[in-house]
Amino acid sequence: MVHHAWTASHSAELYGINDWGAGYFSVSDKGEILVTAQGESGPLKISMLDLVKDIKERGMDMPVLVRFENLLAQQIARLNNAFNNAIEQSGYRGKYRGVFPVKVNQQCHVIEEIAQVGAKYGHGLEAGSKPELIIALANLESPEACIVCNGYKDAEFIDLGLQACKMGYRVFFVIETPSELPIILERSRALGIQPLIGIRVKLASMVGGHWNATSGDRSIFGVTIAQLINLVDTLKAEGMLDCLQLLHYHLGSQIPNIRDIRTGVLEACQVYMDLVREGARMGYLDLGGGLAVDYDGSKTNYVHSRNYTLDEYCADIVDVIMTTLDPNEIAHPTIITESGRATVAYSSVLLFNVLDVASFEPGPLPEVISEEEHAMIHNLKELLKTANVRNLQECYNDALFYRDEIRELFKRGQVNLRSRSLSENLFLKVMQRLLVLAEDAPREFSELPRLKEQLSDIYYCNFSLFQSLPDIWAIDQIFPIAPIHRLEERPPPGRP
Ligand SMILES: Cc1ncc(COP(=O)(O)O)c(C=O)c1O
Repeated sequence: MVHHAWTASHSAELYGINDWGAGYFSVSDKGEILVTAQGESGPLKISMLDLVKDIKERGMDMPVLVRFENLLAQQIARLNNAFNNAIEQSGYRGKYRGVFPVKVNQQCHVIEEIAQVGAKYGHGLEAGSKPELIIALANLESPEACIVCNGYKDAEFIDLGLQACKMGYRVFFVIETPSELPIILERSRALGIQPLIGIRVKLASMVGGHWNATSGDRSIFGVTIAQLINLVDTLKAEGMLDCLQLLHYHLGSQIPNIRDIRTGVLEACQVYMDLVREGARMGYLDLGGGLAVDYDGSKTNYVHSRNYTLDEYCADIVDVIMTTLDPNEIAHPTIITESGRATVAYSSVLLFNVLDVASFEPGPLPEVISEEEHAMIHNLKELLKTANVRNLQECYNDALFYRDEIRELFKRGQVNLRSRSLSENLFLKVMQRLLVLAEDAPREFSELPRLKEQLSDIYYCNFSLFQSLPDIWAIDQIFPIAPIHRLEERPPPGRP
């Protein structure tokens, strides 16, 4: 049996750190997780362990939620640069204006950072309620930045948005239900301020993934195509079709498959073109959220991953819009996306201590098993000698059988507690042996995942799931998890 020397790069592979780390997280030769952030004079690498020491020196203890503002800034820059490159390379004649949905993270330092870094790119905010609109108005300074108001809007919300328009903010009221238009028209007349109107449409395109309830006919938000036509007719009758400038759709968050993204844009482009033909002023196409995060690093269309890069996402969107609009001689719109999770996901890390470990190690075994022990126990001992890379499955089945037989005999009072303990220890010893042999087995051992699970340690960690990671429990959101140091050490068999 060959035991290869273990290095930190093996751990990086084991935990998939380079796959989900997006260039922000890596492992040093010393076996510590590093965070790479853009500093003023170039990239900075910070060891997470040093960070923990620093936090402790300041009198704080784990668990701690660390937010890396630099990573947030970098994500805003990456998103805007990727769209701007796609636009430049393809000769697209519109702009990109991203908006961050405030509901995704309302923490004031997050919003402040996004507004500050985003000013250079005209990156705006999406507001789904009155308080969020107030947040947006308080933070955005760039006249280029858009404020997209989704969600149900009452007269007070609309008055605030209209006054903001008068002050020079670019506030779009996105109509989610037909009942909102009469309020917008009435408030606009009362205040004498022209609104910027958008309409959120329900597309027929469905997406795969965890959050696909926001796509298709039965999606909760947005108007149907029939309602859209009625809204256009009302605006025409009021002489206000000029105010309709934005088409919005949101197919769902975390869209793992690029094909679904292309299909959605294609359908939206058809709607957009017909709105232009109807006489609406248009100019903005808002694709909502959906840009996925590769949480498991698999780069596939698995629900917690994505089968595309950021550059592909941007290039595909620009490409579909151009190839659909150009033959119809429709001007290229400003592209808006409402990326939430992809903007903030990398910037916060929960650090917590492992307090204790329950490991499934066999206890000490006697050199010789007494003749008086049950035959099944002798059989288990024998497996330790006979197991080899070719009979893994057979040994696995036998070991389970012998152990379960002893458990049955124990229940019936036919073997005592010490014998049962001996059999459990022998069983674990056999499992560990099989795990080591499986590494060099000529054929894949199908029970390996189960075996690893059976032998894996249980870690007792000091943090509150409900305070720190409720998404795992409530909405099946997964997050990458890894030790932040000792990654140059080989994990014992069965771990992690
Ligand atoms: C209207 C709207 N825009 C944007 C988002 C953010 O989506 P994501 O986090 O996938 O970018 C959401 C969230 O579901 C949403 O409902």
